Amino acid sequence: MKHIPVITVDGPSGSGKGTLAARLAEHFGFHLLDSGALYRVVAAAALARGTPLDDGAALAEMAQALNIRFEADGVHVDGVHLEARIREEAVGEGASRVAALPQVRAAIHDLQLSFRQPPGLVADGRDMGTVVFPGADLKIFLEASVEARAQRRYNQLKNKGLSVSLPALLASLQERDERDRGRAVSPLEPAKDAHVIDSTAMDIDAVVSVALQLAAGVGLGKTAQT
Ligand code: DC
Repeated sequence: MKHIPVITVDGPSGSGKGTLAARLAEHFGFHLLDSGALYRVVAAAALARGTPLDDGAALAEMAQALNIRFEADGVHVDGVHLEARIREEAVGEGASRVAALPQVRAAIHDLQLSFRQPPGLVADGRDMGTVVFPGADLKIFLEASVEARAQRRYNQLKNKGLSVSLPALLASLQERDERDRGRAVSPLEPAKDAHVIDSTAMDIDAVVSVALQLAAGVGLGKTAQT
């Protein structure tokens, strides 16, 4: 069977991994898996149905029954466009809580693997390189200081015309980081063979260029031309 290449991009909230993953997928013509969106969908569905965010068994059962599709305009769940809803701060906060439950992670494991389709996949999240695609061709771990990440999120939200408080964003990122890094199952940490990029003082073009060099180093550069 022909090898289907995988590039993983892991890192904390606001590190720019979603943008990097999208740029790499576009460059290589690969599929894109935004695994954080899956946890956000589970949280949004739980909030809508009143399912407690700590009931692993109920959440796992619900997650398995959801019909989740990624379209050009974002995520659709059971035929309903939920992109704007899952990007809300409250849902992100809920996602971090449901993502700490082993039953929920197990429930969406196979769904994540199913995104590996020809000609290749770029997968972004927290445990793409450590747990879901441990044999990935290239693993990137994107870091940035919590202050830089809070400032980026602040600018994004302001550009969307939303009123936000920088100290509140910083506190919420710190809390989410702690939960994502400290949890027993699939904690946020670089895989041993991941390339760590600190983007605190880099713009996205510089990060993409480093990532493309790393991709070329593992023979992925040729894929774009073939
Ligand atoms: O990347 P994001 O902010 O959309 O992720 C939302 C939450 O989901 C985040 O708090 C951590 C969790 N998550 C995870 O535990 N594992 C992943 N592979 C992706 C996201």
